[in-house]
Amino acid sequence: MATPPSTPRAVDVELGARRYPIHIGPGLLDDALRLAALAPGRHVLIVSDANVAPHYLARVEAAFAGKRVASHILPPGEQEKTLARFGELMTALAALGASRDATLIALGGGVIGDMTGFAAACWMRGVRFVQLPTTLLAMVDSSVGGKTAVDLPEGKNLVGAFHQPSAVIADTATLATLPDRELRAGLAEVIKYGALGDAAFFDWVQANAPALLDRDTDALAHAIATSCAHKAGIVARDEAETGERMLLNLGHTFGHAIEAEQGFGGLVHGEAVAVGMVLAARLSAELALAPAADTERLVAALHALGLPTAVPEGLDPDALLARMRLDKKNLSGTLRLILWRGIGQAFVATGIDEAAVRGVLARG
Ligand code: NAD
Ligand code: GLY
Repeated sequence: MATPPSTPRAVDVELGARRYPIHIGPGLLDDALRLAALAPGRHVLIVSDANVAPHYLARVEAAFAGKRVASHILPPGEQEKTLARFGELMTALAALGASRDATLIALGGGVIGDMTGFAAACWMRGVRFVQLPTTLLAMVDSSVGGKTAVDLPEGKNLVGAFHQPSAVIADTATLATLPDRELRAGLAEVIKYGALGDAAFFDWVQANAPALLDRDTDALAHAIATSCAHKAGIVARDEAETGERMLLNLGHTFGHAIEAEQGFGGLVHGEAVAVGMVLAARLSAELALAPAADTERLVAALHALGLPTAVPEGLDPDALLARMRLDKKNLSGTLRLILWRGIGQAFVATGIDEAAVRGVLARG
């Protein structure tokens, strides 16, 4: 698969009578008119974090000049995706006097996007919000599809709502300031689309790993647009995650358990998903559902992207398994996992033997 040249791109998310655009391209945050049009009401609350705001907040604030605008800057990191920080956003909206036609703007990565979206879902039972993703992970996954949430110490994303953004504006120039580790974490979610349903895209990501890690503009634009097209299609077919959308969680049940067990201060989300995908592949092979060679191909591709593939030292398999029992996909207390029949062929598996899962966790 060749890499098409980088040009601004748009993907629509179509949800029956509703739809919203994802715009992808360099310099989109400089388009003040486009941004201003996204907030038709009087009140705007911009939410960002302390790493992102110094680079990009002034530009976004300027676009909404003339409205009643407040900005709320949070400390960065998954540890901040809490009910307490969500409460701060409610207080900020009250201080702003935000009415039902208010717009919330999420300027940052998935942590800011998930939390701002949840605040928008709850304020006055639901107001508009716009995603301005600034991490690769947020551009390819979290800003699209309307899953919003905060974490509890007991587990990831346990409190949340489905609430779709009005638009997603992914300014790819913001990736210039993204730390390398976070770029690699985003690439885990990119290759996930290949692993779960598009073997040709998997091969393209693996072959283009050096260009992607080098931040080659064309390669990144192609990776983002292809990922968004996959996500938009799946969300359009299954917005509320009753079936196909569960496939997007490939690696996530394992990964979320690792993140929670590490107190949300160890592997970052994309890294945990990389490890989780390997565990899902290994379990599939051990249950004779998939060739073991495909696990090795996945491990090689993740290594090429500079991602971890093993459970971090010191984590207790029983504690991880207990965390997995609290996953949102489970029904009536039985584990539901995303497994695969090989690269590009993920499926939803129920009734899995917990001893087999524990074995994979223990061997890491
Ligand atoms: P993040 O929001 O913590 O951002 C990663 C780090 O990069 C942070 O330190 C942040 O301050 C910094 N940063 C962000 N943009 C930057 C930039 N342009 N320049 C410099 N620094 C920048 O993490 P993330 O990986 O973007 O998102 C992970 C979160 O997304 C997790 O909470 C995960 O659960 C969630 N998620 C949600 C969905 C969904 O569908 N809603 C999907 C996938 C992941
Ligand atoms: N990231 C999983 C989903 O949006 O469904």
